[in-house]
Amino acid sequence: MREIHIKNEEETRAFGHALADELQPNDVLALIGDLGVGKTSLTKYIAEGLGVTEPVTSPTFTIVAEHHSGRLPLYHFDVYRLESGAEMLAIGCDEYFDGGGVSVIEWADKVAEILPDRTKCIFMEYADAESEHGGADADKNKADGADYAESGGLGEERVYRCTF
Ligand SMILES: Nc1ncnc2c1ncn2[C@@H]1O[C@H](COP(=O)(O)OP(=O)(O)OP(=O)(O)O)[C@@H](O)[C@H]1O
Ligand SMILES: [Mg+2]
Repeated sequence: MREIHIKNEEETRAFGHALADELQPNDVLALIGDLGVGKTSLTKYIAEGLGVTEPVTSPTFTIVAEHHSGRLPLYHFDVYRLESGAEMLAIGCDEYFDGGGVSVIEWADKVAEILPDRTKCIFMEYADAESEHGGADADKNKADGADYAESGGLGEERVYRCTF
């Protein structure tokens, strides 16, 4: 799997723009990762790259927001509040997926069973969380307690694993 190391939000922006250039009609992009890891940020930068002019905020309550001002329509889903793939089908997701735009789905793992085979997945993680789970870096972080705290504990660095 392609693994991309993102050092800061500026690199997320560059990645989002590069992705936006590659996206094609009917692409489905699944963003999978913990609370606050940057799913909405990445979507905003994809939108920016597509030339979307209106603000992009997370559609937590409406589930899907449509943006039509860019190169391709952007259908931005946040399915955190859905319980099942069946609920996703009930809101007519297939019409979005095949609607000629780009569908970006935050928390896509919640509806994994109904995603089309062509779905491109990005698994997003905190780079610091990774080192916590093993390796010399975790011990080094503990030994360097002051520096680690100074950098805000969990820093800006992310790892994106892409299935495409
Ligand atoms: N490398 C980075 N890439 C993206 N965002 C970053 C990065 N480093 C720090 N941030 C910050 O992390 C926060 C990410 O918040 P965001 O709402 O995008 O996360 P999320 O995964 O959508 O959260 P939620 O699970 O609530 O949907 C933002 O405040 C952003 O500025
Ligand atoms: Mg979000």
